[in-house]
Amino acid sequence: MLKDEDRIFTNLYGMHDRTLAGAQARGHWDGTADIIKKGRDWIVNEMKASGLRGRGGAGFPTGLKWSFMPKESDGRPSYLVVNADESEPGTCKDREIMRHDPHTLVEGCLIASFAMNANACYIYIRGEYIREKEALQTAIDEAYAAGLVGKNAAKSGWDFDIYLTHGAGAYICGEETALLESLEGKKGMPRMKPPFPAGAGLYGCPTTVNNVESIAVVPTILRRGGGWFAGIGRANNAGTKLFAISGHVNNPCVVEEEMGISFEELIEKHCGGIKGGWDNLKAVIPGGSSVPNVRGENMRDAIMDFDGLKEKGSSLGTAAVIVMDQSTDMIKAIWRLSKFYKHESCGQCTPCREGTGWMMRVMERLVKGDASVEEIDMLFDVTKQVEGHTICALGDAAAWPIQALIRNFRDEIEDRIKHKRVAGIAAE
Ligand code: NAI
Ligand code: SF4
Repeated sequence: MLKDEDRIFTNLYGMHDRTLAGAQARGHWDGTADIIKKGRDWIVNEMKASGLRGRGGAGFPTGLKWSFMPKESDGRPSYLVVNADESEPGTCKDREIMRHDPHTLVEGCLIASFAMNANACYIYIRGEYIREKEALQTAIDEAYAAGLVGKNAAKSGWDFDIYLTHGAGAYICGEETALLESLEGKKGMPRMKPPFPAGAGLYGCPTTVNNVESIAVVPTILRRGGGWFAGIGRANNAGTKLFAISGHVNNPCVVEEEMGISFEELIEKHCGGIKGGWDNLKAVIPGGSSVPNVRGENMRDAIMDFDGLKEKGSSLGTAAVIVMDQSTDMIKAIWRLSKFYKHESCGQCTPCREGTGWMMRVMERLVKGDASVEEIDMLFDVTKQVEGHTICALGDAAAWPIQALIRNFRDEIEDRIKHKRVAGIAAE
């Protein structure tokens, strides 16, 4: 369980003042220039020592990613791009940071950009996040007015500009290379990787794309030391983490906790338990809609970190925990996700463009029980033809929830077909 003094985000839900004065009173922007003056190598090494793994979903080690950036310019500028296009269904943690603790992000952008030799940072924020955009822009304006960003930012000797760009509501623009395309003014379509952005990113220049939470924790880590962050949680799964818990719990919330907290403790301590009690728990999607669902009885003792959820056949992803009780029609719930992925596919690779449509249509019939039992295996086979055969992870994200549904709830699908019980989906 996370100790109060180890919390980084002390203003979730806006209990305190989110302005610059409020942020400074909570210890942000304290000694920023001193951190920068310790130099790039010190910062990158400290980030490596912290064990921070990317908080956008994939968990790539942050310090290692920064170390891929060229130390000396070859004539091209370097950029930091912050992925604030938070769109994974169930995920609303970065929203809390930008709404109520935006200075953690602005300060993090300055320090991270310096560490990567970038004089400019672009934050790409989700189109639907209008209030968050306003809050963040206000924080950026305050930082400029106070000399914390701009020329000789925070009196560090480093010139730094920060730009906020508003997306237009496409989920795929959260994929880092589609985001870069969109920033460049083009259609948001993922690029093939490699090259990774550190080699050729924004406008073909060295670029690091990091998630909001990954950047917002940086100043506190550097003030307290990488060892402090590494001491929270378990090896390979270090630090504090924002969990966004939604669905059939008594008190859905976003909360900062220690990595490795058990699922039971997370729900009991922060959410007031499962609606109707633990026996009423049917399934959990523990890391945002892309990750495999887990049966309720297998979830209670789950350790909520990268390795713990892997053991459960799932993944920490964005730590968006979607809880479903016995009243949930699992087939319909996963069909709804299929519909989402079909809608959001950018369509440039065939297995995803065609496969998401196929998967959605078969799922639609399974919801109605209007299928034969053999089609369950056929659907599984289609998911396998999509998984791993696409340019970006959207294809996998569409396939995994269905695979897990078939693995975990095959009896429910067969029962539906046997009894041809028709569940309505017309209004969805
Ligand atoms: P990825 O594993 O391909 O890459 C993760 C990061 O590490 C990227 O920045 C990538 O450039 C970097 N990287 C990976 N291998 C590298 C290498 N060999 N050299 C240099 N850099 C390397 O994963 P991806 O596609 O970026 O993200 C997928 C995840 O995104 C999913 O797990 C999902 O949970 C999450 N996601 C999050 C959303 C949100 O709203 N936060 C929305 C949709 C998906
Ligand atoms: Fe586009 Fe889907 Fe291919 Fe990703 S996997 S590039 S979303 S078609």
